[in-house]
Amino acid sequence: MQTPAPTQHRCSAVVGRRAVLGGALALAACRGEAQGQPAERGPAPPLKSVLPFPPGASVMTGQLDDPAYVALFTRHLSQLTPEWEMKMEYILRPDGSFRFDAPDRLARFARDNRLRLFGHALVWYAQKPAAFERIDGDPRAFAAAYRNYILAVAGRYRGQAVGWDVVNEAVAEDGEGLRDSLWSRNLGRLDHMRLAFEHAREADPGAVLFINDYNLESRPRKRATYLRLIEQLLKAGAPLGGIGNQAHLNADLAPGEFTRSLRELASFGLPVHVAEIDISLNRARGMFSSRADLEARQARLYGEVVEAMMTLPARQRFALTTWGLRDGDSWLTRPDENPRPPKDAPLLFDDQGRGKPTFWAVADAAR
Ligand code: XIL
Repeated sequence: MQTPAPTQHRCSAVVGRRAVLGGALALAACRGEAQGQPAERGPAPPLKSVLPFPPGASVMTGQLDDPAYVALFTRHLSQLTPEWEMKMEYILRPDGSFRFDAPDRLARFARDNRLRLFGHALVWYAQKPAAFERIDGDPRAFAAAYRNYILAVAGRYRGQAVGWDVVNEAVAEDGEGLRDSLWSRNLGRLDHMRLAFEHAREADPGAVLFINDYNLESRPRKRATYLRLIEQLLKAGAPLGGIGNQAHLNADLAPGEFTRSLRELASFGLPVHVAEIDISLNRARGMFSSRADLEARQARLYGEVVEAMMTLPARQRFALTTWGLRDGDSWLTRPDENPRPPKDAPLLFDDQGRGKPTFWAVADAAR
C-alpha cells in the first residue's frame, strides 16, 4: 500500500465528519482523483471494525465466483442481502414449484463466512408470478398459496436469517396512499401485509421482520404515508419489528434531509435498516460546477447517513447495506439503468476494490 501524501490526508478530512475546509472549490482543488484516481489514504480499515453496526451489501451468486470480490466482501462486511435470488421472481417457478439453488448458495456463503443473512423480499408489488396470476380472483386459493410461499421461504432460512424484508415498496409512488397490487386485490390493502408479517413470524420467530420503502427523504408526503402505514400495521397487531429505508439517494439531496427522515422513521423505537443505499451521481439534477463537486456532495451525504445512524440508540441501528459492493456491481451501472455515459459511481469501492472518498467519509463519520 502507498504511504498517503499529506495533502491527501487533508482532502479526506474535508469529506469527514468534522470538515473544516468548506466549499466545493477547496474540495475540487484538493481531491486526488482529478484523473479518475481515487484518493489514497493507505489501507482501508475493515468497515466492520469501524462501524458500530453491521455493514452489508447485496450479492448475486455470480459474484461469488470472483475471488477478488469475495476477499473484499469478507474483509469489510458482516451482512449479506440477496439482491435478486431470494425474490419470488426467482424462487417461484411458473408451475408453482420452488427453486432454492441460488438462495441456498448465498445462505451457505453467509454461513461459511460468518456473515449475517438478511432475507429480501417476501412480498413486493413488482412481482407477479404466473403461479399466483392463475389464482387471481380466487381468494381462498390465493390466501393458501400466499401462506404456503411465505412459510416455505422464510421457514427454509429459519434460525439463520437475522431479518426479512417482509413487505417491500407498499406505498404509492407519489406518496398518496398504498399501491394496488396482485396481493392487495386478493387479500386486502392492509390485510395482505398483516398476513405476510404473521406468516413470516410463524415461519421464523427469531427473525426481525421489516417493512421497506424508498424516496422517503426526497418525498415527505411518501414518508408520512409510510409512517401512517407502519402505525396501522402495529395497531392491527402485525409482528413488524423493523423499519427499512432503502436509501437509493441522489448526490444532490439537500443536507439534513436524510437525517430528518431517519429520525422520523426511528420515532417508533424499532430497529432501522439503511437497507439498499447507493448515491447516484447521474441522477442528480441541478447546477454543479463539476463532476468533482458532485462527488464531494456524494461523499458528504454518505457521511451524513452514518452520522444520522450514530445518533440512534445502539439497539435501533440494525445495519447499513449498500446495494452492490463495487461501482461496477451496482444495478445503476448496468446498461438498462445507465444507458449513456458517464458511468454512474454510486458505492464505496471502485471497480478495483479500492475505497473511494465515499468509503472514507463513511469510515470517518464513525470514528
Ligand atoms: C433490483 C436489483 O438490483 C436488480 O438486480 C433486479 O433486477 C431488480 O431489483 N428496490 C428493491 C430492490 O427493493 O429489490 C431492487 O433491486 C432495487 C429497488
